[in-house]
Amino acid sequence: MSKRATPLKKPEIMLDQNASPPLYRQLYERLRGSILSGQLEAGTRLPSTRVLASSLGVSRTTTALAYEQLLLEGYIESRVGDGTWVARLQPEQLFQGSRNAQDLDATDTSGTPPAVLARRGQLLIDMPYPEEFYANEASRGTSLFLVGKPDVTSFPYEIWARLVARHARQSLQAVSFYQDVQGYGPLRQAIATHIGMTRGIHCSPEQIILTTGAQGALDLVARVLLDPGDPAWVEDPGYSGARGALLAAGAKLVAVPVDEEGLDVDAGRQLCPEARLAIVTPSHQFPTGVTMNLSRRLALLEWSREVQAWIVEDDYDSEYRFSGRPLEALQGLDRAGRVLYIGTFSKVLFPSLRLGYLVAPPELLKGLIATHRLIAVHLPLLEQMALADFMAEGYFARHLRRMRQLYKERRNALVDALTRELGKRLDVTVPEAGMHLVVWLPSGMSAQTAAQRAAASGLHMLPISQFSLRSLQRDGLLLGFASASPQELRAGVQTLALALQAH
Ligand SMILES: Cc1ncc(COP(=O)(O)O)c(C=O)c1O
Repeated sequence: MSKRATPLKKPEIMLDQNASPPLYRQLYERLRGSILSGQLEAGTRLPSTRVLASSLGVSRTTTALAYEQLLLEGYIESRVGDGTWVARLQPEQLFQGSRNAQDLDATDTSGTPPAVLARRGQLLIDMPYPEEFYANEASRGTSLFLVGKPDVTSFPYEIWARLVARHARQSLQAVSFYQDVQGYGPLRQAIATHIGMTRGIHCSPEQIILTTGAQGALDLVARVLLDPGDPAWVEDPGYSGARGALLAAGAKLVAVPVDEEGLDVDAGRQLCPEARLAIVTPSHQFPTGVTMNLSRRLALLEWSREVQAWIVEDDYDSEYRFSGRPLEALQGLDRAGRVLYIGTFSKVLFPSLRLGYLVAPPELLKGLIATHRLIAVHLPLLEQMALADFMAEGYFARHLRRMRQLYKERRNALVDALTRELGKRLDVTVPEAGMHLVVWLPSGMSAQTAAQRAAASGLHMLPISQFSLRSLQRDGLLLGFASASPQELRAGVQTLALALQAH
């Protein structure tokens, strides 16, 4: 084992005395995350359990137990008299994300892979899903502030039912044999027109592939563009669905920090300049809500051109922009054909529709179509036909206008209530787009504890740290506002203020 001579800089590890997983599990998790994300490279020496315990202010038992677990799982190696160092991991180990800290429990043996699963299958079981934060409590609380939930009560179901029925009666027989792998032609035409006008996307319908939501597009892209072990940039904090798609393809995740300007391209270049691909949410970063500014967009495009990497732009909810200059999609700025654009109807219509789309550079179409044929052949036709009419006959644009106004009122109501009730203690962001906002907590206030207190009062909101692979300098809470009325949001904020009072 080759070892670098330089000793380890003290890892930046924050442990939460109040959190439910024991300290040693938190420490194990942090170290494992740093090893998997490449922050702690193979061969890096770790401090002794005694030195680490004193620098973190925890007992030696805590550090010894954490090291023991890491040794057992092969993440670190040690020899008496020669110290401890980060092991050279097998590519499969590098695919792993860190498990949700909430799941960690000394008595939990579910991490042992059953023999029947391939390693990648087990990795996906182990993947942290932030939603699991409430695994035990979700049934007891309200979904008032949950993120990613559009107001599905406002959808024009009668019109939709009429369009579906029309096609079920009139057209189904004509399309009942296998159809175009890329999806229903008139729907691709309607999408190309729509995103050309509203998002500045340059594309023809021939460049569009209909997928099962944004997730289907992320999965398709990862399969076609990555080989096992290929490094890929992900935003940190970032969307777990994107990470999952990469892990499923065997990619190595490179967690690139996000700041108030969006993905930190320079940091990405330092961490892994040779990454094959980057998945980003530039219009409305998930979960922080920031919009990537123009200079970062140009820097990202420049990087991708230089190293021939692909940029995957997940534009999941930018149709809801309330104020500020609507920045066009990154794809519209790309002159080198490096951007793959993903859109979805999950937020603008309803998630169970499972319709999304990928806009790909022409040179990638052959590979994408061949792979999509193997995954799905194509999507079911009835909903695609109904949606094509829904768009062509103006219902879609009308629904969008209506929802944008509704969500704007809800955002304003939530921001006003939060500023009034909690503005002195918390930093309330005012999102220009999307369906959720972030309240940043002052340092010293644990978002996990705050979220647990809120949960005890029946309110579910996720800490930003649940979406992060590294420990964050500042944590915050995510509050969705799309699926509740202004009155409900105000009442929720009052409950939240009471719950946090004792904090
Ligand atoms: C960042 C991001 N991308 C994509 C999606 C939507 O995925 P899908 O279209 O598969 O429902 C979501 C939903 O929460 C999301 O937050």
